[in-house]
Amino acid sequence: MLSIIVVVNLLIETSVSFTVVVPGDPIAAHVGSTVIVPCWISPPENAEALEIRWYRHDQFSNPVLLYNHGKIQDVQEEPYRNRTSLALRSDQSGGLKDGDVSLRLEKLTFQDEDSFHCYVSGESSYDSREVVLKITALGSAPVLFPKPLDDGRVNISCRSSGWYPKPSVSWTSDDGRALRPGGSSHSRGADEMFSVHSWTAVSLSDAQLVSCSISLRTGELKEGRLNIQGIVSSDSSGPWKALFFFVLTCALLFGCLVGLILYKYREKLTGNKPAKEICEEETLERLTKEVVGDINIEELRKHAVEITIDREHLHPDLKLSKDCKTVRDSKDYHHTGEGFPFQFCAFGAQRFTSGRHYWEVELAQTNTPPKNYWLIGVVKHGHFTTRDRSALTPSAGFWFLCSDGPHGFYTNTEPPVKLSLTPRPERLGVLLDYDEGLLSFYNVKESKHLLTISSRFSGSVGPLFNPGAGDLSPIMILDCPEPVESAVELAAESSDNPEPVELPQSSQPLLSNNSSDA
Ligand SMILES: *[C@@H]1O[C@H](CO)[C@@H](O)[C@H](O)[C@H]1NC(C)=O
Ligand SMILES: *[C@@H]1O[C@H](CO)[C@@H](O)[C@H](O)[C@H]1NC(C)=O
Ligand SMILES: *[C@@H]1O[C@H](CO)[C@@H](O)[C@H](O)[C@H]1NC(C)=O
Ligand SMILES: *[C@@H]1O[C@H](CO)[C@@H](O)[C@H](O)[C@H]1NC(C)=O
Repeated sequence: MLSIIVVVNLLIETSVSFTVVVPGDPIAAHVGSTVIVPCWISPPENAEALEIRWYRHDQFSNPVLLYNHGKIQDVQEEPYRNRTSLALRSDQSGGLKDGDVSLRLEKLTFQDEDSFHCYVSGESSYDSREVVLKITALGSAPVLFPKPLDDGRVNISCRSSGWYPKPSVSWTSDDGRALRPGGSSHSRGADEMFSVHSWTAVSLSDAQLVSCSISLRTGELKEGRLNIQGIVSSDSSGPWKALFFFVLTCALLFGCLVGLILYKYREKLTGNKPAKEICEEETLERLTKEVVGDINIEELRKHAVEITIDREHLHPDLKLSKDCKTVRDSKDYHHTGEGFPFQFCAFGAQRFTSGRHYWEVELAQTNTPPKNYWLIGVVKHGHFTTRDRSALTPSAGFWFLCSDGPHGFYTNTEPPVKLSLTPRPERLGVLLDYDEGLLSFYNVKESKHLLTISSRFSGSVGPLFNPGAGDLSPIMILDCPEPVESAVELAAESSDNPEPVELPQSSQPLLSNNSSDA
């Protein structure tokens, strides 16, 4: 009641001696962050004796912040209690004394998307302006997955979540050409954030590097890129009739010497004549030129599951730690050229029939070089004892990557893929995407994607480990650290784009209040 009378009074005796100034454009800020909504009076004048009222649309008498009689009054609208203060709009600002009445708002929620009125009133004049606050959320780095189509093209899908408002999706090829999306869909979760899924079909002659970019109207974006070295099997039933398709994301300038040509497994090929033998010179040059963005391990860890080894079905020549997480060969066995001991298998106690699951395995102990012999993947069966590699095929329910000492790295696919991985992985990440039929391997320390096996899983599959023989180090299953959102990284990824007007984070609130003494 009282405030209405005050307004009427002021309206009558309007004689504007100062003007309230705010930015013309809406202010955008990320959910959860702190924003400073700039507002000041012009010409500059000491505002300490004025009334400063920040309120939302028609909530004049229920302000977000009210400064009066030289201090902040404890009358905030409930959702704003403890979250607002007066702040400096820039480092150069002289603060209240210079007429800077900017609002600092912390812990932003989607409900804060609104228009805020900055109202300043003196003895004989007042003025007010409106600032629109837009809340945004920058989603996860897009995850791209390829799937071969019958017509020789590849269907690449791109998924990302945690966006607000609804983002847009665009596809481009390595030469910057826009690729037409085959379809895009958005869905909204209970947390009000948007998930996006888009796909596009490309032929390998069209593009080697495909990029999926998800962006907000603020210009902020996240991009995922996929370097496709599609290998056409010589299988006469047609290129994509082959069960497998391999994807390689090369990121290291020098480290990636991986040729992805489906060679028939060649017994003679040793690790000493690696890349050049496998990669044609031209391929190698192209591979090493294309620097692709690193994998975000934190994103993968969102799918982390705890894995333990099933003691009951452990091969008798293996030794398992009490916590069922560390396994090694127990024989005093030296590698004698007998070939990889495929029978030395350990099975995860956890089995999956859908969804995405991620686990990490340590392959290097302190002060020892990374393991030379290991086999890691997934398996349909809960146990087996065969020594015969030719029995361990995907159609028989095995999918793995094997490190076989001087024989290098190879998959068990038909035909196998031989890889040369430099440096040797010290920590391997495994992502099983059951529904998409993908098994991906990552070098965790280097944040690199190594290889994805595309297949079709049926029934339940579980983790498969084999520590080989003759290595000092065991295979150790790790407990993945809880994923953390890295603000620094988010900023870096969108550095080319206009930053939303936000913060300065460092500036302290000029005046803050808490209702501790209320
Ligand atoms: C905060 O509000 C209380 C009234 O609840 C007041 O006594 C106190 O001075 C205020 N603090 C500041 C820093 O303005
Ligand atoms: C491509 O894959 C998506 C699922 O990721 C699917 O919805 C779409 O129909 C596929 N397109 C073709 C042409 O198969
Ligand atoms: C509240 O603010 C006063 C100064 O205004 C400070 O002394 C006090 O520690 C604060 N209380 C809390 C709980 O932050
Ligand atoms: C504000 O802070 C005080 C003390 O810090 C706390 O007791 C009170 O519950 C807080 N109010 C809200 C709405 O969070």
